[in-house]
Amino acid sequence: MGYFRENVEKAKAYEPGFQPQQTDIVKLNTNENPYPPSPAVMKVLAEITPDKLRRYPDPKGSAFRQAAAEINGVQPENIMCCNGGDDLLVIAFQAFCDENRSVAYPVPTYTYYPVLAEVQNCKAIEVPFDSEFNLPAKLAGTGAALTIICNPNAPTGTFIDVGELASLADELTGVLLIDEAYVDFAEANCTTLVKDFDNVIILRSMSKGYSLAGIRFGYAIAQPALIAGLMKVKDSYNVDAVAIALATAAIKNQQYFKENVEKIKESRKELTEQLRLLNFEVPNSSTNFVLATSKSCKASEIYDKLVQRGIYVRYFDRPGIDDKLRITVGTKEQNQKLISALQDILSDATLRSPSGT
Ligand SMILES: Cc1ncc(COP(=O)(O)O)c(C=O)c1O
Repeated sequence: MGYFRENVEKAKAYEPGFQPQQTDIVKLNTNENPYPPSPAVMKVLAEITPDKLRRYPDPKGSAFRQAAAEINGVQPENIMCCNGGDDLLVIAFQAFCDENRSVAYPVPTYTYYPVLAEVQNCKAIEVPFDSEFNLPAKLAGTGAALTIICNPNAPTGTFIDVGELASLADELTGVLLIDEAYVDFAEANCTTLVKDFDNVIILRSMSKGYSLAGIRFGYAIAQPALIAGLMKVKDSYNVDAVAIALATAAIKNQQYFKENVEKIKESRKELTEQLRLLNFEVPNSSTNFVLATSKSCKASEIYDKLVQRGIYVRYFDRPGIDDKLRITVGTKEQNQKLISALQDILSDATLRSPSGT
């Protein structure tokens, strides 16, 4: 229609996971936390005053910066609040990439990165992972202005050691953004790299471990010079007053957060074992989801049959991952419903093999 920049016209929109409105379903498709946010968050929400809504929010979300800095062992100047981790990705593409400054990342990974590259009109250098999802050596030499490593990775759930990412940060000439949206469920994180490298930005999300996907809150950790540069690009009030108050209450309640994460890790272990017993190949996951490849049936058919039973998981119709299902770790009860449904579906002799024969 001609109103848009050419690359926006050409861009294929990011497809978020399906958000069904019914409540009587088992929703394991968008990696939400199955447990509610901390009671401290709900208390703060109940106490929001009209004045809080009438006035503009603190542009830097100082209360959250302070709390997040303490928990991560850094200074408030190392933190920038964001309207979800996705907001930080948008800001980073705007800050570092253009038609002469490319982005690089291993694939398969979060499918929002190529959309942002297209909108920003920058070249996307996609370097394939090997079959075990090790860090591709080629990434160090792409010359990209921005390299993104999703760690733990989505949709594979796999984790690259902090030492390997330190070496990569050292070798790169551009910025290394480590997308730690799922790191709450891993055994390590890359916060220490921020002290050693002036080119590292860490992305964190409050959507997963803290059960706050609905309010949209995330943050960056980086050296003050990078944070100051990113602040120039962000919307002046990119996080709202209610979100700042709730995210601050959530991050301060570490005990609730840790108990919640432990429950999910325990359920992840059980779910992985049960899926393997059903003949799925499931790599060990460091996230709140697992990636399951059926050795006996087509993933798309299993997906359809699960939907018929009111169970939603994520199926990606993309080369390389179209034989897999990404399944969010739910409550024990939700996971059991999924496993029972899969037992039923897989016992159906009319289902075809993965090759379609
Ligand atoms: C890999 C990855 N990075 C970043 C995000 C953004 O998270 P949010 O914007 O909900 O904080 C997501 C969301 O699912 C994700 O999967």
